[in-house]
Amino acid sequence: MFSNITKIADLKDNVEKTVTIGGWVYHSRPGGKVIFLVVRDGSGLCQCIIEKTAVPEELFSQLAHLSMESSLTLTGTVRADDRSVGGYELAVTDAKILCPSQDYPITPKSHGIDFLLKNRHLHLRSQMPWCIGRIRHTLVNAIRQFFNDNGFTLVDTPIFTGIAGEEAGSLFEVDYFGLPANLTQTGQLHLECAALSYGRVYCFGPTFRAEKSKTRRHLTEFWMVEPEVTFIDLPGLLEIAENFVSFIIKKVLETNRAELQTLGANIASLEKIQPPFYRLTYTQASEILTSQKAQDFLAAQLNEFKTAKQETENKIAALEAESKGAIKQWRKDKIASELIDLRIELGELDTKIENNPKHAKLAAEFKWGEDLGGSDETLISLMHDKPVFVTHYPREAKAFYMKQDSENPKVVQNFDMLAPAGFGEIIGGSMREDSYDKLLAKIIEHKYKIENYQWYLDLRKYGSVPHGGFGLGVERTLAWLTGEKHIRQCIAFPRMMDKILK
Ligand code: 4AD
Repeated sequence: MFSNITKIADLKDNVEKTVTIGGWVYHSRPGGKVIFLVVRDGSGLCQCIIEKTAVPEELFSQLAHLSMESSLTLTGTVRADDRSVGGYELAVTDAKILCPSQDYPITPKSHGIDFLLKNRHLHLRSQMPWCIGRIRHTLVNAIRQFFNDNGFTLVDTPIFTGIAGEEAGSLFEVDYFGLPANLTQTGQLHLECAALSYGRVYCFGPTFRAEKSKTRRHLTEFWMVEPEVTFIDLPGLLEIAENFVSFIIKKVLETNRAELQTLGANIASLEKIQPPFYRLTYTQASEILTSQKAQDFLAAQLNEFKTAKQETENKIAALEAESKGAIKQWRKDKIASELIDLRIELGELDTKIENNPKHAKLAAEFKWGEDLGGSDETLISLMHDKPVFVTHYPREAKAFYMKQDSENPKVVQNFDMLAPAGFGEIIGGSMREDSYDKLLAKIIEHKYKIENYQWYLDLRKYGSVPHGGFGLGVERTLAWLTGEKHIRQCIAFPRMMDKILK
């Protein structure tokens, strides 16, 4: 029945031909003689023009009353028109209404985030999540392509595991037929086994962290890609990571420029992302945090926030005054929607103004030995226009499997990659401890059960070689690329500490 449906994205190949499209009403402007319906079909938007004389009278009347998100098919002639959304329009000669949508809860006016999350099953159709989802699709393909093209073998690591890969405190425990087990926090430990079989491997799947954290950077279920490489050193790993990140950004820029534009992403800054990235040791990063330069940077930011707050307040006052006057209803509605956005913006600016002195204090009081916190990462990342590698963290602050540095035993051969412009960490990685005795000592220090890790220790017993890898979080990377403030928008059905939705 629907074998003859043409995608809106393919209208460009059908100019002056008669086609049928199938989709949902995105916007409707009914008039007495002509109806303008903007229809979306998942591949794009198309303006459909329905003249009263071109269709039966009853159909014209039904189409004139169609509300947002009603589903239908429309048949007509494709016309090229630069002024039209998408560049093509359909002069309709026939239509079939499939399911009228009464009182669709999401309207073009702004809604609060809680409302949108509650209605995520419908919100996925809106333009912002749609654009983000398209970019995610490209990103995931690009990730796979990079590793497939560079001699890596895909290995699917388990989701139920019996060990902790990262912080034991962030394990989701499950009852596995009466035995204790947990959901994986990382595929890395299993991947290390596979690396000693294939040489270069990667895994890509969902990972779970029971972190009691409600920040914009944390989900309890997120997707991570993890490569693992044998016969490599830390500089070699950094090189793979910067080539990888540059490649996936290039692919997104090539494929999704329109979506990035719609989302208001900073395309110019993404175009600059090419190797080499900045390299700082943890010690250098801690010196930056405690420097006068950092304090001056934060003070300048505070001034910018205050100016922006004043401007926003002025805009709100002007719109409120206008809305009290004798104006048309459509203008009143428009102002109401603008005011919602401006008040959200004002709230965000207030939070930034409130947090700024806290960040300044945290930075000034930073002590060598602590892990970099979210605010420290944000500051370092704000001060750079390209990603920054921070390497050689204190051994005590990091995971048990990271390789002790041979020159400075207090630090490990690891790195985090911080995305620029305040987005913070998107990659964590390291060389792995390949000495049996050092690894055993760390497992004992963490009070892990040795018998649970014996298989992992075995890798250091039978033909151990220098090896390392890293993990990139898909949602955090997507938040950076799209300019989204919160990673909950970067996965179709987000799972957060305080919410399981749907
Ligand atoms: O730095 P992490 O914890 O590293 C690992 O899991 C290593 N085992 C990876 C490896 O070496 N194979 O996490 C890696 C990345 C982070 O940089 C971040 O992008 C993402 O995973 N991530 C999260 N994303 C969303 N929500 C969370 N709660 C996340 N925790 C980590």
